[in-house]
Amino acid sequence: MNDNLTHNSEMAHHYETNARISIPSYDALFGMVQSYFRAELNGEVGSVLVIGAGGGNELTAWGPTNPAWTFTGVDISEDMLKIAKFKTNQLGLSSRVNLIHGTIHDVPEVDAVFDVASCILVLHFIDKVQEKRELLKGIHSRLKPGAPFVLVTAYGDRDGSELKDRLHVWRSFWLDAGKSPTTVNEMVKTGIMKISFMPEEQIEELLQDSGFTHITKFFVTGLFGGWMCHAGSHSVDSE
Ligand SMILES: C[S@@+](CC[C@H](N)C(=O)[O-])C[C@H]1O[C@@H](n2cnc3c(N)ncnc32)[C@H](O)[C@@H]1O
Repeated sequence: MNDNLTHNSEMAHHYETNARISIPSYDALFGMVQSYFRAELNGEVGSVLVIGAGGGNELTAWGPTNPAWTFTGVDISEDMLKIAKFKTNQLGLSSRVNLIHGTIHDVPEVDAVFDVASCILVLHFIDKVQEKRELLKGIHSRLKPGAPFVLVTAYGDRDGSELKDRLHVWRSFWLDAGKSPTTVNEMVKTGIMKISFMPEEQIEELLQDSGFTHITKFFVTGLFGGWMCHAGSHSVDSE
């Protein structure tokens, strides 16, 4: 293994472990989204748009079990994409996976042909509401009308007691995994509270503004929530 691969595999290992501490239902989440997409696609061939595909977890969770699905994975991190590439090659998925280094704007809009899309654990890394909206609109405009979309993101009102209570739960996951209270307090201060939380009403409004309909919250674990919805008609698109 060369230095680059070693670095990427350490990074992957770190991410894999931490994601499952931060979200103890992480693997179940991928299973639930797969079930939803399968039911929506009803056995048909499916082209899947994965925003934030770095690390490759959507591709490796859904690729082998759904041989008729093809994937376009988009990520701004070259290192994370290298991990995705390595994992998909190992699983023999590369002929069904197209990886794009960049943002939604790097996915040609003429390809408004995706049958389903996911954006898992990405939106809270984007600070500006306008940029979040552009991402969601960009996803919407590349989906077939009626296509299902799953959004999973940190959510909550920074000033509300409800988020504080969920933060308490999130802290407990890390304490139970063996981190000291000092380390966890530091992680809260310098890490998790730096991400962009949005109250759930605003997330639902943002989805609506971006052209999505039938918005339903289906998932909550600790600080994170998940919404299922459908791409409405394309008339609202204006990127
Ligand atoms: C926490 S990881 C989640 C990866 C994967 N979706 C999962 O759930 O395991 C967040 C990923 O989103 C990527 N990312 C952040 N902002 C992005 C953007 N605007 N467009 C595409 N990818 C982005 C990061 O590079 C990173 O790989």
